[in-house]
Amino acid sequence: MPPLNRRDFLSWVLGSLTGTTLASKSWASDRPAFLKDYAAENNLLYGAATQYSILKRDRDFTRRFIEECAILVPENDFKWEKLRPAPQSFDFTKTDWLSSFAQAHNLKLRGHTLVWYKALPEWFTTEVNQTNAAKHLVNHITTIVERYAGKIHSWDVVNEAVEPKDGRNDGLRTSPWLEYLGEEYIELAFKTAAAADPQALLTYNDFDLAYDTPEQEARRTATLKLLERLKAKDIPVQALGMQGHLYAGSDRFNAVKLQRFMQNVADLGLKIIVSELDVVDRTLEAASIFRDRAVANIYREYLEIVLTQPAVIAVITWGLSDRYTWLKKYRPRMDEANVRPLPLDHNLAPKLAWEALARALQRF
Ligand code: G3I
Repeated sequence: MPPLNRRDFLSWVLGSLTGTTLASKSWASDRPAFLKDYAAENNLLYGAATQYSILKRDRDFTRRFIEECAILVPENDFKWEKLRPAPQSFDFTKTDWLSSFAQAHNLKLRGHTLVWYKALPEWFTTEVNQTNAAKHLVNHITTIVERYAGKIHSWDVVNEAVEPKDGRNDGLRTSPWLEYLGEEYIELAFKTAAAADPQALLTYNDFDLAYDTPEQEARRTATLKLLERLKAKDIPVQALGMQGHLYAGSDRFNAVKLQRFMQNVADLGLKIIVSELDVVDRTLEAASIFRDRAVANIYREYLEIVLTQPAVIAVITWGLSDRYTWLKKYRPRMDEANVRPLPLDHNLAPKLAWEALARALQRF
C-alpha cells in the first residue's frame, strides 16, 4: 500500500485504535462513499451474495445493498433444491423477482450455480441415474440459462468439481455427476450453457485456493490442470471463481505461489472473479475491537496479493453485513458471540473490513 497522506494516516490509526465502525466518514470526505465506487475507479466490480427472502423483508439492508454493490449473487435461490420442486418442473418465482430487482437497481446479476454436488433436491437420488443424467443436466441448464439470457453477467456453470482428497488421478471430486457421466459432465455443462447464452461469462468456481498449505497447493494444481484440459479441448470456460472463504488462524498466504497460480490461470485466457469472500473469526478473541482489526488485516493481505493480477474483474463478498451470513450457522463461535466476517456490521455500518476492501479495490 502506498503511503497515505497525513490526514488519511491519522484517521486510519484512530480507527484502528478505537475499532470505530466508521470508514467513509473518518477516512476522507473527498473519497467515494461506497465500495462499488472504489472498485469502479479501477475497472473492477464489487458486489455481494444475498437472498430473495432477505431483500423482500429487510428494507434497510436492501438500501445498503444497492448503495454498496454493483453486482448481486443470489446465495441460494438459483440452486437445484430451490428451483426444482419436481423432476419435470421449475419454480422461477424468486429468481424472476431477483432478476427484475437487479435490473431495476442497475445491479449486474451473477448466477450461482448450475452444476454442484450439493443443494440437490430430495427427488434427485431416486430420479437421476446413469441413463438419464445427461438429459437432466442439459434440460436444467438450457431452461434456466435461456430464461435469463442477456441478463446475467456470469454463470457459475460448475461449482467445486475438484477434491484431491478423493484420491483420483485427475483430482476430481467423486460426485453423482462424475459417477454417472465421467469427467465429461463438466464439458457438457459448459457447452450447454454457452449455447443457451453466448453473452454470459462462463465460470468454474472453487474454494480453498488461497493458503500456503499442502492441501490447498494440491487444490491449486488440480484446478489448474482441470482448466488446462478444458481449454485444450476448446471448452468455453471463460473465468475462474476463486471463492476466498478465508479464516483467522495459523495458515498463511504465500504471495509468490498464489500470484503464480493466478498468472497461470490468466495465461489460459481466463478472467478471475474473487467470488465468495469472507473471513471466519471463530478462533479470535471475543472483543470485537480486536476481532475486526484481525479480520480487516486478512482482507487486506489477501486482496493486496490477488488484486495485483490484472485478470481479476470482480470482488464479491459472501454476504454484505454480519446481520446475514452463512457462518452464523456453519462456523459459530464457541463463546456464542455474533460472528463478524463481513464489511458491514450487524447495524449496517462499515467496519475496518469495509475500509480494507475500499483501499484494496482501488488496487491500493
Ligand atoms: O430455505 C430453507 C428454509 O425454507 C428451511 O426452513 C431451512 C431449514 O434449515 O433451510 C433453508 O435452506 C437453507 C439455505 O441455506 C437458505 O438459508 C439450507 O438448509 C442451507 O443448507 C443453505 O446453506 C447454504 C449452503 O451454501 C448450501 O447450499 C448457505 O446459505 C450458503 O451460504 C452456502 O454457500 C456455499 C456456496 O453455494 C458454494 N461455496 C461454499 C458456500 C459456503 O458453504
